[in-house]
Amino acid sequence: MMKFTISSIFFNVFLIITLVFQTHASKINYRSNKYKALFIFGDSFLDAGNNNYINTTSLDQANFLPYGETYFKFPTGRFSDGRLISDFIAEYANIPLVPPFLQPGYNQYYNGVNFASGGAGALVETFQGSVIPFKTQARNFKKVIAWLRHKLGSSDSKTLLTNAVYMFSIGSNDYLSPILTNSNVLKYYSHSEYVSMVVGNFTSTIKEIHKSGARKFAILNLPPLGCLPGTRRIQSQGKNSCLEELSSLASIHNQALYVALLKLEKQLRGFKFTLYDLNSDITQMINHPLKYGLKEGKSACCGSGPFRGKYSCGGKRGEKHFELCHKPNEHLFWDSYHLTENAYKQLAARMWDHTGNSHTIGNYIISDFFQ
Ligand SMILES: *[C@@H]1O[C@H](CO)[C@@H](O)[C@H](O)[C@H]1NC(C)=O
Ligand SMILES: *[C@@H]1O[C@H](CO)[C@@H](O)[C@H](O)[C@H]1NC(C)=O
Repeated sequence: MMKFTISSIFFNVFLIITLVFQTHASKINYRSNKYKALFIFGDSFLDAGNNNYINTTSLDQANFLPYGETYFKFPTGRFSDGRLISDFIAEYANIPLVPPFLQPGYNQYYNGVNFASGGAGALVETFQGSVIPFKTQARNFKKVIAWLRHKLGSSDSKTLLTNAVYMFSIGSNDYLSPILTNSNVLKYYSHSEYVSMVVGNFTSTIKEIHKSGARKFAILNLPPLGCLPGTRRIQSQGKNSCLEELSSLASIHNQALYVALLKLEKQLRGFKFTLYDLNSDITQMINHPLKYGLKEGKSACCGSGPFRGKYSCGGKRGEKHFELCHKPNEHLFWDSYHLTENAYKQLAARMWDHTGNSHTIGNYIISDFFQ
């Protein structure tokens, strides 16, 4: 009997220790789960509605129908019929939909926030005055850091920032804007000089963000810029080809971007990156839409003129008339410059995927970053 009691005491002590340990462990789990954050920077490929709240024109906004019609049933400001790559990445990572930084009344940053702005480039001159430039996005990030430090203290906020994933899509507008605004900048600079300037500014802002405590960088490279309905249309006059100058600039940029990231990996403490080759995947989808369950890889769903490349989707950009397809899901392009939700979903899945044929460059895949 005595023996039984002693062993029972031991058992109880053991049980209590186990319970205390488990409670502690689950507290840690709960906290590290709360610390899972996604910070988003860049242009209209990732803007979830920041431009709804700035003084700009409808050219840089998508807060009217039919934008958003497929998934949200109302226009959120996303340049698509539904969700974006970053929305799917958040979903795969079990993070709630990441809201725009400028959304009024929103100030819970534990799961990250979205700083991206349609039309933004790495250069401050790009669509200056109508967008939130990349450098300003990084400055807004510092405001969020101050908020986190205030709420969590310096040690916990530092942990959050170290574990967080930072996603980027920037550069397309630096090349589109000179072409679309007939600026002379591409005559003044050689292509390689101009690319160095864009990548140089990208790099210096990345360094700032790293200095603030970011470590895990997930970057999308530039799509084939001359093969979007809006740029194909400039080229066209009946022809079916891409605007070579723009596609070539995107390729030169993408090579320079990769070299710059390898350099940052050597220079910056703890810097990790994954570079998703969006360019290859979109090129494949343009050339072989059927392989991706799409019927149309060249013309947009929403717009007017050749390839529906005229940027008139929604009828609010100085032109009331526009055409709209019945099944956005069958199209790669939603409007003259942006993709459908179906396309973004497939791209996000390929970015996330681990099975070997993923088009990711670098030692990591974005899913590794959320482990
Ligand atoms: C918005 O921008 C326009 C054109 O740049 C300017 O005339 C107007 O004063 C601005 N409005 C505000 C509220 O800043
Ligand atoms: C950044 O861009 C500006 C033009 O906006 C340019 O003068 C400057 O040289 C660029 N910086 C780097 C590091 O390339």
